[in-house]
Amino acid sequence: MQAVKTHGATIPALGFGVFRMSDAEVERVIPAALEAGFRHFDTAQIYQNEAALGIALQEAGIRRDDLFLTTKVWVDNYDISRFAASVDESLDKLKTDQVDLLLLHWPADPVPVAAQVDMLNAVKEAGKTKFIGVSNYNIAQMQEAVTRSAAPIITNQVELHPYLPQRNLAAAAQAGDVAVTAYYSMADGAVPQDALLKQIGTKYGKSAAQVGLRWLVQQGYIALSKTANPARAAENIAIFDFTLDESDMTVISGLARPDGRLVSPQGLAPVWDV
Ligand SMILES: NC(=O)c1ccc[n+]([C@@H]2O[C@H](COP(=O)([O-])OP(=O)(O)OC[C@H]3O[C@@H](n4cnc5c(N)ncnc54)[C@H](OP(=O)(O)O)[C@@H]3O)[C@@H](O)[C@H]2O)c1
Repeated sequence: MQAVKTHGATIPALGFGVFRMSDAEVERVIPAALEAGFRHFDTAQIYQNEAALGIALQEAGIRRDDLFLTTKVWVDNYDISRFAASVDESLDKLKTDQVDLLLLHWPADPVPVAAQVDMLNAVKEAGKTKFIGVSNYNIAQMQEAVTRSAAPIITNQVELHPYLPQRNLAAAAQAGDVAVTAYYSMADGAVPQDALLKQIGTKYGKSAAQVGLRWLVQQGYIALSKTANPARAAENIAIFDFTLDESDMTVISGLARPDGRLVSPQGLAPVWDV
């Protein structure tokens, strides 16, 4: 699979996310995702399925070195007394000594960015993760994190799909050598139903979902895709055998709309960039 190489990390360009998945769904779909070729998996403390993912990956017998495993520290653990212990708990559940990537899940006020980043660096120095990053940080917070952090902030994981292309944030990330990871790539189910994406897909023999994911990885982004449906896991990874032409890339980018943002939880979301 195509990979994004940054700060010494090699990140498979398409990751399998397990947000909003029960343990039973994780157990059922992970073997299919591995069979389809996924090796990059994305979970979080708040998803409450780190343990199910850990068991499913262990039972599949894949070598740990062949996996790229990400988890995220929940905001309630942004305290010196809880941060490292919460990461230890995540590692226990994931049945590993070290994740590949550890993210701060949201830039939760009132804990200052500097304090969040320092705690993240401390667990990296303790060997609990190979790389660190942030999620849902706006441009100013991302730049502050980059400046503050001893270790590179290798990615900012944000909502990004054709209806919310996040051009300004992506440009700032590129300038700061921060890879962009796109979540909600299906825009909560809207992308697979989109008439224009379906129409473009017929040209390439691909579904609207595949066109949406291809549009992301073709821009150099890391894309996350979730499905509880084993057949769709195979569909979603079949995006590395075609190239959208420039005019199709432009047309898809034209789907951007002012109300494109879907994820903005009160009390967690920062002031978003336009
Ligand atoms: N950092 C954050 O704050 C944050 C927030 C949200 C998500 N994420 C990460 O990003 C990952 C992806 O986001 P997401 O979970 O919202 O999922 P998504 O990839 O945007 O998918 C949303 C929905 O699309 C459906 N879908 C997937 N593939 C499809 C296909 N080929 N055809 C038709 N429908 C399809 C899935 O339903 P079925 O399961 O029924 O197939 C899924 O529920 C998450 O799992 C998580 O790892 C991070």
